[in-house]
Amino acid sequence: MTPPPMHRAHVMLRVRRQDSPEAMPYFDEFRVTLAPRLTIAEALDGIALHPMTTRGERVTPIAYTWGCAGLGCVSCMLVAARRPVAACETLLEEVVEPGGQLVLEPLGKLGVIRDLLVDSGRLRNERVKLGGFSTPEEPASPLLATDASSLRLSPLGELLSRCTRCGACVEACPETRAEGGFVGAAAFVASQLADARDLESESAAAHVATSLLATARATRRSNRHLALAHAGGIHECGDAQRCLAVCPVHLPLDEVLGRAARDAIAQSFRRR
Ligand code: SF4
Ligand code: FES
Repeated sequence: MTPPPMHRAHVMLRVRRQDSPEAMPYFDEFRVTLAPRLTIAEALDGIALHPMTTRGERVTPIAYTWGCAGLGCVSCMLVAARRPVAACETLLEEVVEPGGQLVLEPLGKLGVIRDLLVDSGRLRNERVKLGGFSTPEEPASPLLATDASSLRLSPLGELLSRCTRCGACVEACPETRAEGGFVGAAAFVASQLADARDLESESAAAHVATSLLATARATRRSNRHLALAHAGGIHECGDAQRCLAVCPVHLPLDEVLGRAARDAIAQSFRRR
C-alpha cells in the first residue's frame, strides 16, 4: 500500500523498537495527524489502534504504558527528541513542528524490556544501594520503624519527597550507563530523604530510650554516608548538571549532589 504524502497537519513519529532486552533495536515510523493539545501518549494510543508504518506495513503494536496522566505514576516516561519527558504531559506541538519528525526512544539507561517499556526496578535498586529507599523487602530498622506517611518532615524533607522516581535525571546524565557506573541524582535524593525521615522518626519514637535511638540513627546515617563513596557514588558525578534541566518537579539537584559530596568527605574523615 502506498502511504499518503506528508502534510503540514501531520508529523512523523520515529519510534525506537526492541523486541526483547537482548534484541537489536530498530526504528519504525508512523504518521500522526496533529490535533490541538494532543499529547505524545495520546498519539501512541492512536498508533496502537492502527499500527501502520509510513511504508504501509502493519507492525506489532508498540509496547508502552501510561496511567495517571498527571505525573503521578511516571510509567509514561520516555525520551522525545533526546530529552526525557512524561509522555502524558508533553504536547506534540511543543516538541515538533507540523510536517516535522519526532524521535521517541525508551529511557535506555534503566534497561529496556520491550520498545518503550523499561525496567524501573533499576532505579529502585540504586536507591537501596545508597540506603535511601526502604521497601517491604528491606524494612527500616525496627528501632526506628515509623510509618513514613505519619512523619512531619523538615522543609528539606518535604522538598525531596516530591521526587517522582521518574528516572529523567538518570537518563540525562552523561556519567550513568545502562550497565552500571554513576548511580544518578535520584539515588542521592532518596538517601537524603531517608536522612530526613530518620531525624523525624527520632521524635516520633520518643518512647524508645534516647541513647539507643541516637546510636541506631547515627549508624544508619553513617552507613548511608559511607555508601555515598562506593562504586557508582558521588565521586563519579561529573557536575554536568543535566539532571537539573530535566527534573519535572524542579528539585535543586545541584544542591543535593553538593550535599552528598560534603557528607561523603565528612564521613571519610570520621573513619580515620
Ligand atoms: S530527582 Fe527529579 S528527575 Fe530524578 S527521579 Fe526524582 S523527579 Fe525524576
Ligand atoms: S501517565 Fe502517570 S505520569 Fe504520565
